[in-house]
Amino acid sequence: MLIIDSVLGMQQQARDWRLAGERIVFVPTMGNLHEGHMALVRAAKKFGQRCVVSIFVNPKQFGPNEDFATYPRSFEADCARLEVEGVDCVFAPGTETMYPEGKDACTSITVPGISDELEGQHRPGFFTGVATVVNKLFNSVQPDVAVFGEKDYQQCLVIRRMVRDLDMPIEIITQPTVRETDGLALSSRNIYLDAEQRQQAVGLNHCLKVLVAAIGQHSDISFAVIHASQALEQAGFEIDYVVVRRQSDLRVPVVTDTALVALAAVRLAGIRLIDNLPFELEIP
Ligand code: PAJ
Repeated sequence: MLIIDSVLGMQQQARDWRLAGERIVFVPTMGNLHEGHMALVRAAKKFGQRCVVSIFVNPKQFGPNEDFATYPRSFEADCARLEVEGVDCVFAPGTETMYPEGKDACTSITVPGISDELEGQHRPGFFTGVATVVNKLFNSVQPDVAVFGEKDYQQCLVIRRMVRDLDMPIEIITQPTVRETDGLALSSRNIYLDAEQRQQAVGLNHCLKVLVAAIGQHSDISFAVIHASQALEQAGFEIDYVVVRRQSDLRVPVVTDTALVALAAVRLAGIRLIDNLPFELEIP
């Protein structure tokens, strides 16, 4: 398995594969890989001959009071896992390689509308950081296909919109959230949870399931959301948001919308957790 840390090196490798007629599939990550990331890698491999995974903890998507410095890093173990999976190349640029003039001096990409609320509202600048780095990674890896996880539902929509608006010749594939057996969505940040918080954390997925079930039984959406918020607070979470939106654009649903998604972001002793459950409303 190749490990490449320079933009030029990655671009040259990508060009060689493309000249040989090989399709490149790409999974961008920030490392500290878990089974959620591995599911994306396995899905990606079906779409092309050459699979590249990037590992880059992107400072541009962290706010000043967020966990960039302490974000878990496990490069050696990550590479070992990716090699077993048959990945061809790990692209792992350093911060100076990605942002030679500094992250704030870099030309940046802002995807309007979809970036503005939910995660975007609670983490100002987050989606500009994500869109900018994903654009830069795409320019290095030059993939035919890139795979993202629905765990970060809004991120998937931001990336799709960027690709469409900027006419990027890249197919975006999304994959369902991988969970622990009790329902907790896998996340690199779950290691911040102590044993007691880990038990509590499952309440997030539980409350979303109850919310979706209530709406499925024709509860009024606003009423069901209020009920879910109360349940989350009782379970010890501080709430950033709990909403039910349209799957396609995260707008507030109208009566004819049936493809919906329940999304929530909460904090447990300062540790931020997000989750979502897409669902279809049956028309009676
Ligand atoms: P990271 O959090 O490392 O996630 C990398 C990819 O794995 C994302 O597409 C994310 O949605 C997916 N993922 C994470 N947990 C998952 C789970 N439990 N099930 C399925 N997929 C999961 O997301 C990022 O990094 C960054 O924002 C990035 C896109 C790499 C840009 O820096």
